[in-house]
Amino acid sequence: MSQRFAATLVPMNSGPVLRTLIALLLLGAAPVVIAAGSNDACLKCHTDPTVKRESGPNMALTDPAKFRMSVHGGKKGQCIECHDDAETADGKDHPKKLKPVDCASCHEDEVAEVTKTVHGKPVDGDKAASTCVGCHGSPHEMLAKDDPKSLTNYVNMEAACGSCHGNDKVVAQRKLPGGNVQAAFHDSIHGRLVRDGSDFKAQAPTCTTCHGAHSIQSKKEVGSKLSHANQPAMCGSCHQRALVTYNSGKHGQLQQGGDKTAPTCTDCHSAHGIQDAASDNWQVAAIGQCGNCHDDYVESYHLTYHGKVTNLGYADMATCASCHGAHDIRPASDPLSPVSAEQRLTTCQQCHKQASVQLMSWDPHPRPSDSERSVVLYWANVGMNGLLIGVFAFFGLHTVLWAYRSFGDAIRRRRGGGSNR
Ligand code: HEC
Ligand code: HEC
Ligand code: HEC
Ligand code: HEC
Ligand code: HEC
Ligand code: HEC
Ligand code: HEC
Ligand code: HEC
Ligand code: HEC
Ligand code: HEC
Ligand code: HEC
Repeated sequence: MSQRFAATLVPMNSGPVLRTLIALLLLGAAPVVIAAGSNDACLKCHTDPTVKRESGPNMALTDPAKFRMSVHGGKKGQCIECHDDAETADGKDHPKKLKPVDCASCHEDEVAEVTKTVHGKPVDGDKAASTCVGCHGSPHEMLAKDDPKSLTNYVNMEAACGSCHGNDKVVAQRKLPGGNVQAAFHDSIHGRLVRDGSDFKAQAPTCTTCHGAHSIQSKKEVGSKLSHANQPAMCGSCHQRALVTYNSGKHGQLQQGGDKTAPTCTDCHSAHGIQDAASDNWQVAAIGQCGNCHDDYVESYHLTYHGKVTNLGYADMATCASCHGAHDIRPASDPLSPVSAEQRLTTCQQCHKQASVQLMSWDPHPRPSDSERSVVLYWANVGMNGLLIGVFAFFGLHTVLWAYRSFGDAIRRRRGGGSNR
C-alpha cells in the first residue's frame, strides 16, 4: 500500500465523511474504481485543485475543456490511451509514479524521424534537444496544425520554434547555433509577410518551410536542405527567376561544381534577416557582403566617386550590382558581362546618359600602388607622397636647425650675464 498514493489524496480541508471514505479506501473496502475508458474517473481527481503530489504541486489539468477540444481528446479520446498504466487491474488507485508516455505507440513514424535529427539527438548528456512536447506544447491541449490556434500552425510557427531559438536565456544556456534566430526572422521580409498578411501571405516561408519539421538538420550535414550544395534550390523553389540567373553566372557555376568558396543565396542575403532587395539600407549593406570575398575590389571601389557616396549610406549611386549584375555575375572577359568591353558603355549609359567612349578609360577599380593598372594614379600618388615627404623633411630640418640656433643664443646670453651688448 505504501506504493499507493491514496493517503496523499486527503484534500486539505476534507471533512469527516471524506476522511472516512479515504480510510475505507485505504483498507480496500471502497476503492475508487477507475472505470476502464472513462475520463470522468481520472478527471474527478485531476480537476480538483486540492489534489496534490506529496511533493507539493497540484495535479489538476489546467483546463479539461481544452483536452476535449484537442486532437487527443475529442469524443473518444481517453486518458488511458496514453497513460495506460493509470488504469489498474484490480480497480484500485494507480501508482504514484507512472511510466513516461510513449508517443511512438501511435506515432511510430514521427518518432523514428525526429530521433534521427538535431532535435532528437541527445545534447548535454542525455536530454534531447527538443522533445515532441517542446514543439507541440502540452500533450493535453495539442491541436491539429490546420487549427489557427495550434502551435504548429503556419502563423504560430515562429513563436513555437522561438520558445527556444528566440529565448535569450535558452540560447545562451544551450549555446544554440545562430543565436537569437527568431529576432532576425521577425523583422525580415519573410517574417513580416507571414505576420502581417498580404497578397503573398500563402507563399512566404516560415521556419518549417525552409527547415522542415521532423526532418530538421544542421546545414553541415550532407543532404541537408540548407547545405552549400542544396540551399540555392531550396530558396529557388520560390524564387525561380533568381535561381535561374544565379545558375548561369560565375558564382552559381562554381557552386554547382562543388566549390565551397562560391557564395550561395544566404552569403549575400543572410538566411533569417532577409530584407527587401530594393531598399537603400540593404543595397549599401550588400557591398559589404561582396567585400567578404573581394576585399581588394571593394577597397578600390571606395576610392572612386561611386564608392565614396555609398560609403556615406546613399544607395542612389553605382553599387557593385549596378555594374556587375546581382545574380548572373560574370568575368569581365565574358562578352555577356555588363562590364565587358562590348557592353561597358551601355552599362555606364544607364546612369550617364551622355557617356561616350572616352569615359571607358576611367577605371572603376583604381590601384594607386599598381604602376601598370593605374599609371596616372600611381605617378600622381608617387608625386603627392614625394611632395608630402619633401615638405615634411624640409620643414622638419628647418625646425631642428632653428631650435639649435635659439638654444645656442640662449646659452650665450646667459654666459654674457645680461651683457648690454
Ligand atoms: C483518486 C484520485 C485520482 C484518480 C482517480 C486518478 N489520479 Fe492520477 N494522480 C492522483 C494523484 C494524487 C497524483 C500525484 C501522485 C504523486 O506524485 O504524489 C496522480 C498522478 C498522476 C500522474 C502523474 C504520474 C507521475 O509519474 O508523475 C498521471 C499521468 C496521472 N495521475 C494520470 C491519471 C489518469 C490517466 C487517471 C485515470 C485513469 C488518474 N490519474 C486517476 C490522483 C488520482
Ligand atoms: C496524447 C497522450 C496523452 C493523453 C491522451 C493524456 N495525457 Fe496526460 N500526459 C501526457 C504526457 C506526455 C505527459 C507528460 C507531461 C510533459 O512531459 O509535459 C502527461 C502528464 C500528465 C499528468 C502529470 C502532470 C504533471 O503536472 O506532472 C497528469 C496528471 C496527466 N497527464 C493526466 C491526464 C489525464 C487526466 C488525461 C485525460 C483527461 C490525460 N492525462 C491524457 C500525455 C497524455
Ligand atoms: C522541431 C519541432 C517539432 C518536434 C521536435 C516535433 N514536431 Fe511534430 N510537428 C511539428 C510541426 C511544425 C508539424 C506540422 C507539420 C507541417 O506543417 O507539415 C508537426 C506535425 C506532427 C504530426 C502530424 C503529422 C502530419 O503530417 O500532419 C504528428 C503526429 C507529430 N507532429 C508528432 C510528433 C511527435 C510524436 C514528436 C516527437 C517524436 C514530434 N512531433 C516532434 C514540429 C515538431
Ligand atoms: C493512443 C495513441 C496515441 C498516442 C499515444 C499519441 N497520439 Fe498523437 N494522435 C493520435 C491520434 C488518433 C491523433 C489524431 C490523428 C488525426 O486526426 O489524423 C493524433 C494526433 C496528434 C497530433 C496532431 C497532428 C495534426 O493533425 O497536426 C500531434 C501533434 C500528436 N498527435 C502528437 C502526439 C505526441 C507528441 C504524443 C506523445 C506525447 C502523442 N501524440 C501520443 C493518437 C495518439
Ligand atoms: C525545446 C527547444 C527547441 C525547440 C522548440 C526548437 N529547437 Fe531547434 N534546436 C534546439 C537545440 C537545443 C538545438 C541544438 C542541437 C545541437 O547543438 O546538437 C537545436 C538545433 C536546431 C537546428 C540546427 C542548428 C545547427 O546548425 O546545428 C536547427 C536548424 C533548428 N534547431 C531549427 C528549429 C526549428 C525550425 C524549430 C521549430 C520548428 C526548432 N528548432 C525548435 C532546441 C529547440
Ligand atoms: C527562408 C528560409 C529560412 C527560414 C524562413 C528560416 N531559416 Fe533557419 N536557416 C536557413 C538557412 C539557409 C540556414 C543555414 C545558415 C546559413 O546558410 O547561413 C539556417 C540556419 C538556421 C539555424 C542554425 C544557425 C546557423 O547559423 O547555422 C537555426 C537554429 C535556424 N536556422 C532556425 C530557424 C528558426 C527558428 C526559424 C524561424 C523563426 C528559421 N530558422 C527560419 C533558412 C531559413
Ligand atoms: C516558400 C517560398 C519562399 C522561400 C522558400 C523563400 N522565399 Fe524569399 N520571398 C518569398 C516571398 C513570397 C517574398 C515576397 C515577395 C517578393 O518580393 O518576391 C520573398 C521575398 C524575398 C526577398 C526580397 C525580394 C524583393 O523583391 O526585394 C529576398 C531577397 C528573398 N526572398 C530571398 C530568399 C532567400 C535567400 C531564400 C532562401 C534562404 C528565400 N527567399 C526563400 C518566398 C520565399
Ligand atoms: C553575390 C550576391 C548575391 C547572391 C549569391 C544572391 N543574390 Fe539575390 N540579390 C543580390 C543583389 C545585389 C540584389 C539586388 C539586385 C538589384 O538591385 O538589381 C538581389 C536581389 C534578389 C531578389 C529580388 C530581385 C529579384 O531578382 O527578384 C531576390 C528574390 C533574390 N535576390 C533572391 C536570391 C536567391 C534565391 C539567391 C540564390 C539562388 C540569390 N538571391 C543569390 C545579391 C545576391
Ligand atoms: C562567399 C564569397 C563571395 C561573395 C560574397 C561574392 N563573391 Fe564574387 N566570386 C567569388 C569567387 C570564389 C569567385 C571566383 C573567383 C575566381 O575564379 O578567381 C568570384 C567571382 C566574381 C567575379 C568574376 C571575377 C572572376 O575572376 O571570374 C565578379 C565580377 C564577382 N565575383 C563579383 C562579386 C560581387 C559584385 C559580389 C557582391 C554582390 C560578389 N562577387 C560576392 C566569391 C564571392
Ligand atoms: C562603375 C562600375 C563598377 C562598379 C560600381 C564596380 N565595378 Fe567591379 N568592375 C568594373 C569593371 C569595368 C571591371 C573590369 C575592369 C578591368 O578591366 O579590370 C570590374 C572588375 C571587377 C572584378 C574583376 C573581374 C574580372 O573578371 O577579373 C571584380 C571581382 C569586381 N569588379 C568586383 C566588384 C565589386 C565587389 C564591386 C563593389 C564593391 C564592384 N566591382 C563595383 C566596374 C564596376
Ligand atoms: C547606377 C548608376 C550609375 C552607373 C551604372 C554608373 N555610374 Fe558613374 N556615377 C553615378 C552618379 C549618380 C554619379 C554622381 C555624379 C553624376 O551624377 O554624374 C557618378 C559619378 C561618376 C564619375 C565622377 C563624375 C565626376 O563628375 O566627378 C565617374 C568618372 C563615373 N561616374 C564613371 C562611371 C563609369 C565609367 C561607369 C560605367 C563603367 C559608371 N560611372 C556607371 C551613377 C552611375
